[in-house]
Amino acid sequence: MTQVTPISFVPVDLDAVATVEGRLAIIVSPDGKLDQSARRANRLTRGAVARLVESAGFAKLKPGQVVSLNWPSGLAAEALDVVCLPKRPSVEEARKAGVTLAKLKVRKALHLMAGTQGKAAELALGIALRDYTFDAHKTSDSEKEADEAAVTLYLGKPEEVEAEATPLLAIAEGVMMTRDLTNEPANVLTTTEFADRLADMSKLGLEVEVLEEDKLEELGMRTLLSVGHGSDSPSKVVVMQWKGGAKDEAPLALLGKGVVFDTGGISLKPAAGMEDMTMDMGGAGVVAGTMRALALRKAKANVVGIVGLVENMPSARATRPGDVVKSMKGDTVEIINTDAEGRLVLCDVMWYAQDRFEPVGMIDLATLTGAIIIGLGHENAGVFSNNDVFCNGFLKAAEAEGEGAWRMPLGQAYDDMLKSRIADMKNIGGRPAGSITAAQFLKRFVKDDTPWIHLDIAGVASVKSDTKYAPKGATGWGVMALNRMIKDRFETE
Ligand code: BES
Ligand code: MN
Ligand code: ZN
Repeated sequence: MTQVTPISFVPVDLDAVATVEGRLAIIVSPDGKLDQSARRANRLTRGAVARLVESAGFAKLKPGQVVSLNWPSGLAAEALDVVCLPKRPSVEEARKAGVTLAKLKVRKALHLMAGTQGKAAELALGIALRDYTFDAHKTSDSEKEADEAAVTLYLGKPEEVEAEATPLLAIAEGVMMTRDLTNEPANVLTTTEFADRLADMSKLGLEVEVLEEDKLEELGMRTLLSVGHGSDSPSKVVVMQWKGGAKDEAPLALLGKGVVFDTGGISLKPAAGMEDMTMDMGGAGVVAGTMRALALRKAKANVVGIVGLVENMPSARATRPGDVVKSMKGDTVEIINTDAEGRLVLCDVMWYAQDRFEPVGMIDLATLTGAIIIGLGHENAGVFSNNDVFCNGFLKAAEAEGEGAWRMPLGQAYDDMLKSRIADMKNIGGRPAGSITAAQFLKRFVKDDTPWIHLDIAGVASVKSDTKYAPKGATGWGVMALNRMIKDRFETE
């Protein structure tokens, strides 16, 4: 798995300004004030920093932006990165500074003279989140953008900042796991490999169970199994429990769609862009990464993560359009389109979660519909809920973490679109409001008194251009928001 860049927190060392190799970074506030280290760098470069600060260009910099002086004379470093950041920045500004530095740092050590800079831990998180490349399958070193070079933060109070940064870097580790899983191709990340990687997290204190096909059959998870019928990879459900809260307290349930590859099945997708369907397990990836973060930072909360791992393939054994299958709940579904498979996986996982755990709340994540991309693009995930308080708690957490999320409506008229002539429901509602009818389908598997949020992350799980915290590809969207929501709701003493 991709490791988070190692970051050390050490006391301020003015002599290091002259001697460190790799990249040296100093912080200058927008009003142009230089701290001790910046003054030292200015002196060593014979006033280059002061000239930059007085230039018209500096005045135009936004917090978090950087100007780099390359091969500065007077310094051993090959570049001096001058970071524009107020002494008391917002979380977003501090992270942005980290992101900018990480983009510049590629393959080089970074020495950041942060002194008494406010929100230095968030700055470190920004570096950790952005310093990511998925190079597991690059063979030549020149193509490999491996970036193992360490980061050193020189600080007035290094222990204090390190204590603050430690839980944040645990979250970054969760994000790395989500991104790795989501980026991984489907011949590597089979259902079995996925389950193995999750089982491996028992090392961190998570209780992990892998339910195999015979067990799923016994439980009656027929709609989930119907999706995997066409594949040679066995369908699995993985249950991960983190018990960091009070013994008798019901858990929060996080549920994920884990379609390791979605060909569409017999309702085969067109060839163009089908390769992107390796990310159709993104929901399960977010659940996995969040559980990892919770375990690493030893969260004081009870959370159960459950993912449905299947592969949607056409074959002689595959489910046909027109087939009727019975869900674990007992309701029957007429499968009009085998490409609307995510809801068939989730509905059984949702029923199982409520049946076994009686959770205080249930959040499912799924790359569920192309329609949500038409509606919200790649900026926001679609949020659907039956409970305003629960939903607002999530929206607030997502906003605080800079992860876009936008609430969408539900309603009886949309539910009516799922009526079937021969079964209890169809698995699609037609073209209009495709994301909403998908959510309505799921809602039929929510017990009345269970607070529930459905997150349609098809547009945000993997993106073709750089995003706020990630290079192009898998983003890890949702790990930080879910982590914060759990912290806000369950960990306030
Ligand atoms: N996995 C897809 C949705 C998707 C599309 C995710 C694009 C990421 C990017 C899902 O299983 C699917 O195929 N949905 C269909 C539903 C339709 C058949 C009702 C869709 O969106 O076209
Ligand atoms: Mn599909
Ligand atoms: Zn899918």
